[in-house]
Amino acid sequence: MLEEKIPFEPLSVNLHTPFFPPSLAQQNGPRSLPPQFKFPSLPLEVASSTIDTQDIGSADGWIPRDPRLVRLTGKHPFNAEAKLRDLYSAGFFTPSNLFYVRNHGAVPVVNQDRAEKWELRIHGLCAKPATLTLKDLRTKFQVVTIPVTLVCAGNRRKEQNIVQQSLGFNWGAGGLSTALFTGVYLSDVLEHVHPTKPAKHVIFEGSDELPNGPYGTSQLLSWARDKGKAMLLSWAMNGLPLEPDHGFPLRLVVPGQIGGRSVKWLSRIEISKTESQHHLHFHDNKVLPTPVGPEKARAEKNWWYDPRYIIRELNPNSAIARPDHNEVLDPSDMPPDATYQLKGYAYAGGGRRVSRVEISWDDGDSWNVAKITYPEDLFRDVAYSDSVYGRLDLTESDLCFCWCFWTFDMNIEILRGSDVVMVRCMDESLALQPRDMYWNATGMMNNWWFRVRVCQIE
Ligand code: MTE
Repeated sequence: MLEEKIPFEPLSVNLHTPFFPPSLAQQNGPRSLPPQFKFPSLPLEVASSTIDTQDIGSADGWIPRDPRLVRLTGKHPFNAEAKLRDLYSAGFFTPSNLFYVRNHGAVPVVNQDRAEKWELRIHGLCAKPATLTLKDLRTKFQVVTIPVTLVCAGNRRKEQNIVQQSLGFNWGAGGLSTALFTGVYLSDVLEHVHPTKPAKHVIFEGSDELPNGPYGTSQLLSWARDKGKAMLLSWAMNGLPLEPDHGFPLRLVVPGQIGGRSVKWLSRIEISKTESQHHLHFHDNKVLPTPVGPEKARAEKNWWYDPRYIIRELNPNSAIARPDHNEVLDPSDMPPDATYQLKGYAYAGGGRRVSRVEISWDDGDSWNVAKITYPEDLFRDVAYSDSVYGRLDLTESDLCFCWCFWTFDMNIEILRGSDVVMVRCMDESLALQPRDMYWNATGMMNNWWFRVRVCQIE
């Protein structure tokens, strides 16, 4: 049963009006969701309804936001993550209002009317350029819903900034979230426009207005055409239209790659011989060599244009959600033979699975194997139809696109005797989280062993 396999309760669950017309489920076939998928295991949650006073007067002053999201860059632009504890206890799916947000500028103002007229222009090296509305996407292509974990490349950057300030702001370990994304396969849409030689890249552009032009980035055409990589043009998240912060009305979703590739407010796709020339494609989402610190990177532009430093796929990473940093373990709560359950998350990139999670409390001299749960597996091998989510279908891919959870039962006396507990994971390509930090100017892809200090009441 899903309830048994997913170890956490949703924070809160509200019913809402389904976004999809009822005909969608019928259109996608007669099978309905098996009982284990039924409410409340899926994240039916309405959007936040309150405008945060901090946003009043800013360009985003019309967007309701959940006060449980912790702001990382002051008022504007909005960049925020849930506290790891809240994120973790929300469960496998992150309710949309707790989903981390990474915006480089103001959110484009798109009302329902503008959304209905939203046009996605696809042009460049293709035989049949097209301009598609959301209705075209919904009606001309197979609609699917899949679970995907998005992770900001800056997740855990705060640890790097403590060692030496990077060019980026502090993310804790909450710069990631998981949702059910509904849309159409990018590969199907590319087939429709028929790319022609010598196309090699697919460029995506959002409609946010930034000081150095719109947000844009690109994918290798060969990857974008691969249905197994499951890149989606998506308009709904957790069964509702995308929230303004998450790209309403249309975004790209790229499973297994850094979140920066999942372009929001998507309005243009260009099939091209060359990669994206957008400012942030070069000056973001790069891991430069350690000796190239912020000053050098600012002064010597050539580092940014070296294709070797691009980041696409996520690296393996994990974090401890329980105990929290500096959590106080009160012995009066726990008899000496009690077991304390350590908990946390892990993920890997490129569709690879986490093959082991290990815990150490002696600075890595010895390791202990934790138990892993992969809720995503409930979606494998069989497709379901549902009136809210449409067709839930991972059968086009053998890859793994979501985080997993781990637990480790630790004797309380041992935990009380430990100063620091740490976690690391390995993925199925045997890539292992390193002991040492790979400090870099953008502070991205930080994945050294995650450490938590435990405090004792004597
Ligand atoms: N797309 C546009 N148009 N503008 C942006 O600022 N930020 C990117 C990506 N897509 C961004 C964007 C980054 S860096 C990340 S990590 C993800 O969106 C975050 O997606 P989310 O805010 O929905 O979590």
